[in-house]
Amino acid sequence: MKFETKALHIGEEPNLSEGGSGDVVSPLHLTSTFARNKIDEPPRGYEYSRSSNPTRNALEKRLAALENGKYCTAFASGLAATTTVLLSLLKAGDHMIAFDDLYGGTRRLFTHLFNKKFNIDINYVDARKVENIADAVKDRTRLIWLETPTNPLLKLCDIRSIASIAWDKKIFLAVDNTFMTPYFQLPLELGADLVVHSTTKYLNGHSDSVGGAVITSDEHIDEKIRFNQNAAGAILSPFDSYMILRGTKTLSLRMERHQQNALAIAKHLEAHDKVERVIYPGLESHPQHQLAKKQMSGYGGMVSFELKSDLNGARGFVEGLKLFTLAESLGCVESLVELPALMTHSSIPPEEREKTGIKDSLIRISVGIENIGDLLEDLDSQLNKL
Ligand SMILES: Cc1ncc(COP(=O)(O)O)c(C=O)c1O
Repeated sequence: MKFETKALHIGEEPNLSEGGSGDVVSPLHLTSTFARNKIDEPPRGYEYSRSSNPTRNALEKRLAALENGKYCTAFASGLAATTTVLLSLLKAGDHMIAFDDLYGGTRRLFTHLFNKKFNIDINYVDARKVENIADAVKDRTRLIWLETPTNPLLKLCDIRSIASIAWDKKIFLAVDNTFMTPYFQLPLELGADLVVHSTTKYLNGHSDSVGGAVITSDEHIDEKIRFNQNAAGAILSPFDSYMILRGTKTLSLRMERHQQNALAIAKHLEAHDKVERVIYPGLESHPQHQLAKKQMSGYGGMVSFELKSDLNGARGFVEGLKLFTLAESLGCVESLVELPALMTHSSIPPEEREKTGIKDSLIRISVGIENIGDLLEDLDSQLNKL
């Protein structure tokens, strides 16, 4: 089956056997526990919904299939998924390498919990250069953590080349695929051991659920993650599982439209004299456009740009937009805008923000699926005020 077909049929096969109700849509199993006739005969393998639940399992099957993986575990948030990966693969004293341009919450989790409290040694490196990863490897290195493209600077790293270093040195490689989704990028095919998602974003796509997922094809990794998920308990609820299952059905259509609108906006902004710089992997001006073409089958719906203005000008711009809702998060049907210096990345000290390239006038937009003419008009109305 191809992507669009899997997104509709895997995990929701109607049960037409005797006693099955034939539901076309997977039922919402809200039960917390499952009855049994005898102590040693749990019905159909279900005992208690923290351990497993039929609606969650339906989603896990589908997400595994979409990422071309074998196993998936669904979590209460993207960060719960990330936490469980680290709990499963690392122990105190181990070393890990991470891209220096990560989602701020992921970096906070790594630094404040895993490094400061649990003694995981972490090196943040510019993973755009593969040799920086190779140089950071130590005897104790157990995990490499990547996001590509990153947030908000849309930097890319070469998953296949980094996977070959990881493979060589027997280090696990995890890729956060939230921005691209499996529709545009398949990290497991490029050599990653695990894919992590914030399903809160494109996979659900409608700004009405928080969730996360881990996908792998390695049975041993899956066993550890499943054990720790049950032990620590950060599971996705049946209702959120149902919502995300529903969201995945239109993922391919939404991603195409997000990309079409994003490319049109990126080109429009690039030609505008009030805009200093536009960052979008689909633009030829993106320094890693060739890598984007090689490793992804599309460029996604996230665009960042710098205004020829200062922090106050940028603040006025984002507050003045009408159709781009001023809010954190991304990957939903409605367009969102945010100012990283004062919002998603405000916890990073200004000197460090400057060093990684997050200027005060940098604006990040998550382009939705509205009419492109309306979106351009909204942006122009504010650009013209600058
Ligand atoms: C790339 C990326 N990964 C992980 C997360 C964390 O996910 P959640 O907010 O679902 O915990 C986010 C949240 O914005 C994100 O953008």
